[in-house]
Amino acid sequence: MTTPAVTSHPPAHLAALRADATRGLTAVPKALPPKWLYDAAGSALFEQIVRLPEYPYCRTEQALLTKFSPDIAATTRARSVVELGSGGPEKALALLDALAETVTTYAPVDVSSSALNLATTALSAACPQVAVQPRVADFTDPLDLDDLDGPRLVMLLGGTIGNLLPDERAQFLASLAPRLTHQDRLLLGVHLVTDPRVILPAYNDSAGVTAAFNRGVLHRINRELGADFDVDAFEHVAVWDAENEWLAMRLRARTAQTVRLDDPGIDVRFAAGEDLRTEVSAKFRPERLARELDAAGLELDMIWTDPDALVSLALAAPALRILPAA
Ligand code: SAH
Ligand code: AVI
Repeated sequence: MTTPAVTSHPPAHLAALRADATRGLTAVPKALPPKWLYDAAGSALFEQIVRLPEYPYCRTEQALLTKFSPDIAATTRARSVVELGSGGPEKALALLDALAETVTTYAPVDVSSSALNLATTALSAACPQVAVQPRVADFTDPLDLDDLDGPRLVMLLGGTIGNLLPDERAQFLASLAPRLTHQDRLLLGVHLVTDPRVILPAYNDSAGVTAAFNRGVLHRINRELGADFDVDAFEHVAVWDAENEWLAMRLRARTAQTVRLDDPGIDVRFAAGEDLRTEVSAKFRPERLARELDAAGLELDMIWTDPDALVSLALAAPALRILPAA
């Protein structure tokens, strides 16, 4: 099978970045959606993050997948695998390998066209019998699954659901649930609440890779919106928020400064020490996960957790609805 071409960013991308930057940089407190961290440079830096000794999440989830993919395959017997926020190919490879008897289509969805291109090339070579159908899209936009044969396995791995704010998460799950049939399944990989002494170094590594990943969003706004951020004038900060049980990644202005964005033509003032939040990374307790799934009309089928309780893989199905008698 030939490698399908991945289109680059849809034209709407720049308008969305402009809207998010305008809203986020004029809000109090300032905040940007984390998806903008993933341009080509950001995706490459993320691949370095997952190899850092301080960042245990990715390799732990990969080990769980390697161990339990046969169970997931036996339970789902999926013909189509849809991976949201797909990133690199490694996790999909484990699943597609275990699903070899049934799977015909793999549809990765990612905002990063560079990550999608690399993964598509690798997966098409490794699994020539599977049709790879990549889509450059925001997975929180309504997803059309109708053209994919069932049973379908929709995966959102790596803890990426934790990068959505609670309201966004609720909306995303509630919009996905009715699109799933009773044969389809959702596989979620989440980071668990642990001692902050484990969490904090994962977001403030000694090699400074996460700091570069974080500051990358300013380079992107400079390049794509004609801004003049002095990137080194911002300090990378990672803070554990015990009340919300999330890690917040921020950029802190070292001095008072004004930044110009030519497109859309605004000046943004920062006070000395003012923070711009660039990401939250929520950590979960199993009860909260079950509650959030339940609120969206989904129920847990199975949950697997590593021995250090760092990550869980949760398989969920649409909850049975009891209809009134006709
Ligand atoms: N699933 C992979 C990658 C996780 S990194 C893993 O488990 O290792 C998060 C990925 O999600 C990145 O590739 C990023 O580009 C993508 N992403 C982040 N927010 C997104 C969004 N709203 N819509 C689509 N993709 C998104
Ligand atoms: C993709 N996502 C789950 C990562 C996380 O841990 O929240 C992104 C990341 N941010 C900083 N390091 C890694």
